[in-house]
Amino acid sequence: MTSCPRVACLLCAMAVVAFGQTVHPVGNIFDPQATPAASIYRLSMLVLAVCAAIFLVVAGLLTFTIVRFRRKGDDRREPAQVYGSNRIEIAWTVLPILIVIVLTMATARVVIAIQNKSAPANSLQVKVIGHQWWWEIRYPDSGVVTANELHVPVSTAAKPALAFLKLESADVAHSFWVPQLSGKTDLIPNRTNQMWIDPRQEGTFLGNCAEYCGMQHANMLLRVIVQSPADFDNWTAAQKADAPSDSRLEAARATFLSLSCTSCHTVSGTSATGTFGPDLSHLMSRTTLGSGVIPNTPENLRAWVKDPQAIKPGNLMPNMQLNSRELDEVVTYLSSLK
Ligand code: CUA
Repeated sequence: MTSCPRVACLLCAMAVVAFGQTVHPVGNIFDPQATPAASIYRLSMLVLAVCAAIFLVVAGLLTFTIVRFRRKGDDRREPAQVYGSNRIEIAWTVLPILIVIVLTMATARVVIAIQNKSAPANSLQVKVIGHQWWWEIRYPDSGVVTANELHVPVSTAAKPALAFLKLESADVAHSFWVPQLSGKTDLIPNRTNQMWIDPRQEGTFLGNCAEYCGMQHANMLLRVIVQSPADFDNWTAAQKADAPSDSRLEAARATFLSLSCTSCHTVSGTSATGTFGPDLSHLMSRTTLGSGVIPNTPENLRAWVKDPQAIKPGNLMPNMQLNSRELDEVVTYLSSLK
């Protein structure tokens, strides 16, 4: 686990502002909605309380000394010079050591409780693969493949639901961070890291890549969509279906499949089987495009296909230089992928 240094975060935010794009807020760490985030929140409150107490003692003593021993009138005598006190030396050595031991043990307890959690037999397994600059999401048990929006069922006292995530990277180091659900966990090339979440509330939780990974790091956004078990099952069933083969889309499909889109993207049930870019089989079921950069609307989809570099400069999808007929047909076809 690593954390983005504050200066780097500020620079990222400034870079996004410089590119003229919206800064997307991530969730609030003070409103945890899953066990790992709640444990981290409680620990941080303990650390904050201990630090606040130390601050009050030190600032209080300092203020008292300044006021009590300030120069009075025209008294110019030098105060008594005290050289060393064993009692004070022992006190300010032992007390900080005790405080550090308490904080270390409290932290170790939380880290161990989160890291050593083993997956119950019925837990949801998900593989998340970081790419520059998007998230590939695979559900090995159902075979569902999606991108940038992780769907999981809500966890209730009556029906606890844990999602175990195996984190990998296809290129450089990334970090999975959805503040309301868990701490950061890195995605490292040639290594599998693990984390788990048990969201207690339905809804959409925003996250972000938290490890600098190149030009569009700040636009490597992430959504966790927490659903009721029934809604999650419906979503899974819909994602497993092949792309529709509506005969009215014949021309549009033929155009899409004739272009080199297919060497990077998969559309299930067709000859498009590329894996370099996001799986498009159910593109219209996602709320955003470009890993959270723009809402998934017909106008934005058209603008993205026309020139992805204008929207997310440096991203690995080139401008395909489509003519307007090709553009219309590709957008028509993609719009049918519900
Ligand atoms: Cu991926 Cu930063």
